[in-house]
Amino acid sequence: MSSISYLNGTFMPASEARISPLDRGFIFGDGIYEAIPAYSGKLFRLDEHLQRLADNLAAVRIKQPLTTDEWKQVLNEMISRNQATHGSEQSIYLQVTRGVAERDHGFPDSNVEPTLFIMSAPLKSLPESIATEGVAAITHEDIRWKNCHIKSTSLLGNILLRQQAYDDGAVEAILIRDGEITEGAASNLFALIDGILITPPKGPLLLPGITRDLILELAQQHKIASCEAFITPTQLKGAEEIWLTSSTKEILPVTTLDGIAVGNGKPGKAWKQMSQHYQHYKQQLRDA
Ligand SMILES: Cc1ncc(COP(=O)(O)O)c(C=O)c1O
Repeated sequence: MSSISYLNGTFMPASEARISPLDRGFIFGDGIYEAIPAYSGKLFRLDEHLQRLADNLAAVRIKQPLTTDEWKQVLNEMISRNQATHGSEQSIYLQVTRGVAERDHGFPDSNVEPTLFIMSAPLKSLPESIATEGVAAITHEDIRWKNCHIKSTSLLGNILLRQQAYDDGAVEAILIRDGEITEGAASNLFALIDGILITPPKGPLLLPGITRDLILELAQQHKIASCEAFITPTQLKGAEEIWLTSSTKEILPVTTLDGIAVGNGKPGKAWKQMSQHYQHYKQQLRDA
């Protein structure tokens, strides 16, 4: 049985989904996306993901294709239709593009409908080595545009940066713009500096990550000192711990930065503690 996807109002086997090559998502990368994990069939922070999607669609003036209730109904149906092949832990990907129109940089007529595509994949469990060894990261100049708060499908900058990390034997590139750390190529960043958990403040230069917000909430709930503040590359180099966060990779402890050990070169105590809180949060969601 093949994976089921959803295209413009119809559920269908993913292998049968077709779009026009004139779709502006294909031609220009003119679209917005979200990636949402589901644990025991429950979508992680669904309201927050749908709110970010709505904000992003409004920011780039793409029509909202569904109401909030319709989104919830369709996404939950995606999970149940894929349950037999993928199980109940799934990764849902959705994207909305500006639709199909003759190629022109300017927006098409207002009667052009957005294209909505949703797919599901089994949620990959994270390798055990993360907890024992952590991961390697590099630093790199942030070569992306200046609207990184928009979760756009135009990801060429992010792709080149992530590939540079892979080419250098690392899993992520940590980005520097004008002397400050912004985020990873597909993750947000936290650093433990002098015992305080710090993440760069929201703004146009980084994505307002859903996982980032949850970690700040968990820190507050468990009385872990934390704040939102700018971090320089020099401060990052001296950090006791560095973490990268995203909905699918959760919290990755960075144990090597540009080939040099972070702290003692192993996942740190603060990471272990936050990781437990995070797993507990996921379990509560499963049990809800
Ligand atoms: C550039 C970027 N920053 C941060 C994140 C983390 O966001 P979230 O926690 O909402 O998955 C992502 C996720 O893909 C991303 O692409």
